[in-house]
Amino acid sequence: MLKKNFPALAAAIAAVSLVVAACGTLPAAMPEINVIPKPVSVTEGHGVFKLKSGMTVAADSALAPAAKYLIEALAKSSALQLEAARPGKEGNIDLQLGLDDKNPEAYTLTVDDKGITIQGATPRGVLMGIATLRQLVPADPKDSRIPHVTITDAPRFDWRGAHLDVSRHFYTADQVKDFIDLMATYKLNKFHWHLTDDQGWRIEIKQYPLLTEKGAWRKFNGQDRECMAMAAKEDNPDMLIPQELLKVEDGDTLYGGFYTQEQVRDVVAYAAERGIDVIPELDMPGHLMGAQQGYPWITCTGESSWGQSFSSPLCPGKDSALMFAKNVYSEVFSLFPYEYVHLGADEVEKTNWKACPDCQARIKTYNLKDEHELQAWFVHDMERHFNANGKKLIGWDEIVDGGLSPTATITWWRDWAPKAVTTATAQGNDVIICPDFLLYFDFIEQARDLKRVYDTEPTTYRADWNLTPEQKKHIRGVQANTWCERIPSVRRMQYQIMPRMMALSEIAWAQPEAKDWADFEKRFVAQVDYLDRHGINYRVPDLTGFNDINVFVDTATVTVHSILPNIEVRYTTDGSFPNAQSTLCTGSITVTESTKFIFRPFRPDGTAGAMQTAEYRKEAYSPAQALPDKKMEDGVRMVYHEFKGRKCAEIQEAKVVRNYTLDSVAVPEKLEGWLGLVYEGFIEVPQDGVYTFALTSNDGSMLYVDGELLIDNDGPHGDTKLTAQRALAKGWHKLRVEYFDMNNGGILSLQWALPGQTALKTMTGFKH
Ligand code: ACM
Ligand code: ZN
Repeated sequence: MLKKNFPALAAAIAAVSLVVAACGTLPAAMPEINVIPKPVSVTEGHGVFKLKSGMTVAADSALAPAAKYLIEALAKSSALQLEAARPGKEGNIDLQLGLDDKNPEAYTLTVDDKGITIQGATPRGVLMGIATLRQLVPADPKDSRIPHVTITDAPRFDWRGAHLDVSRHFYTADQVKDFIDLMATYKLNKFHWHLTDDQGWRIEIKQYPLLTEKGAWRKFNGQDRECMAMAAKEDNPDMLIPQELLKVEDGDTLYGGFYTQEQVRDVVAYAAERGIDVIPELDMPGHLMGAQQGYPWITCTGESSWGQSFSSPLCPGKDSALMFAKNVYSEVFSLFPYEYVHLGADEVEKTNWKACPDCQARIKTYNLKDEHELQAWFVHDMERHFNANGKKLIGWDEIVDGGLSPTATITWWRDWAPKAVTTATAQGNDVIICPDFLLYFDFIEQARDLKRVYDTEPTTYRADWNLTPEQKKHIRGVQANTWCERIPSVRRMQYQIMPRMMALSEIAWAQPEAKDWADFEKRFVAQVDYLDRHGINYRVPDLTGFNDINVFVDTATVTVHSILPNIEVRYTTDGSFPNAQSTLCTGSITVTESTKFIFRPFRPDGTAGAMQTAEYRKEAYSPAQALPDKKMEDGVRMVYHEFKGRKCAEIQEAKVVRNYTLDSVAVPEKLEGWLGLVYEGFIEVPQDGVYTFALTSNDGSMLYVDGELLIDNDGPHGDTKLTAQRALAKGWHKLRVEYFDMNNGGILSLQWALPGQTALKTMTGFKH
């Protein structure tokens, strides 16, 4: 119906095209090797080995579980039915130990006419070789040709982690296994299982049954409602709460679930079969409301509540509360046969501790300076309990504050607390790098994020660390964290982590000098086929060929590009969400009237990806502006306001701190904290034409050209780049940028491209 309102537009659209990279492989072509993470050395031969159902896998007894895993994995991915070779017999695939390499995860993989041999330095090395083989076997059982090749390989870091929060939303044990299997595919080897938090307790503890009876279930909370609202707003069923996780009790709908200890053991065994250690985290002393549903006496006040920033923590002043914490962990230790256990210890609100006589008595008894030292005392006390049970403690980097024990390891997440890394490594403590601004995969992936992750060198992530070679040795590895407040389903979780997990895997595995973005991108495109085959969801990289706002004077031609050859792009121009029946992009679109496109990719299984809008505006040239009647100065003028809001429009009213003159629209290096900045200046454009502007910020920003709003990048958010065009007549034009930062590392830039050009460069040459 709506379409009727756009007759001119319908006529204006001649043909539409989707241009894709030529990546299709003809059946007869030599199969390609596109392994992620990139192996140390790949030497290709000339022939192929055909793997067929009925072929056998030989392994000595220490490797029998590895053989079982390989057979199962290939049955799932390619319908190949392999069998274990009879004892003493050779196999078509041979798994062996005995590789002479100090790195326990080192392996070699050889494919020749005779078959496939994987040799590892240890069983873990063989498992890494199997992960590579899984990526070499094609999907089609009629075409299981594997190219002759010799691969020699070993990882750079021994900590290649992925964290998953199952508290904020719950995933079943089978779904967790799928996550682990995805980790295994990309050779990640540490699964950090965030099992408890304010929103849910997910692990059975036999001594305290109320932890799961009460703590594993909740009525829908604000985050659940936010997810459901987003499902409707973005036409995305993956944002719905899974019905199978609901139950009705006394007329209330409750949502949740937990793992029995038996299920935990089963998940741990499944992970071990794939070369993955499981590190449990039961977050204490904060983030503990899940436990307080059943056991409120572990807090200072005997009640569970929200404080100013975080929830009421455990009371470290009460022996009973400490005993509770230790008893809980004692049960946990026996379920996880690995050396590391994560205590959490992040984001602890200490207000209650200040007012609590028990906490204050503890501070006095142990001669502690304040509540920060009380937190450190709690961590040390727990660490003694861990150590006494043969475990090593990991904590979030807050455990550096107030004094770090010589033996604890930290997961460094606070980009705004870089000193935690220098302090810990100088002291000889190990650090796992998982920065909020880069490796928190719960943040919606932006266009550049995959490359940002790929380009990261963990040991120099912060230039101001200046780590010595000795300190660098204590960078144990990298990890991505996925917090699930806004991730209600497995498909949404996969969308958040893929493809970034592939880039993580490569920075964790490959040596820095081996990294090559173009080569990675090619392998990533090929890997998407693997994800499609396994029904794993992923984020389709942004479609390109257009800006968010595009301007033309007479006509415009729209050509949509996707890096992925496997997807279809459909679109609407009437504001409705594109669906499987919407117009397919098959050629270039000529636009003669203002038009708002919504483009949407569809994966081979028919599921829709995220929508992208592109507005095409027909405009006359905006006339040049008269310069003010005064002597103009070089540079853009910036006014710094004392501002703690969340909206650009309100900055103007906030108190002025001081003025700056700058070359470009950027945050001066010395400015940090809460910021409200307003930039104004004139810029001379050399000719009549359509100019492209890009405004990038963290948090919100707005761009006005000649007094009219052009880019609305407002509101609190991570790095977000928006582009827009404007038709400008030759001469001077007035620009205004408003920007605020909520004390989380200010980022702001304004770039532009001249008519007919696409390369953006930082805008300079202002006068004011
Ligand atoms: C964290 O993100 N609170 C570790
Ligand atoms: Zn207390």
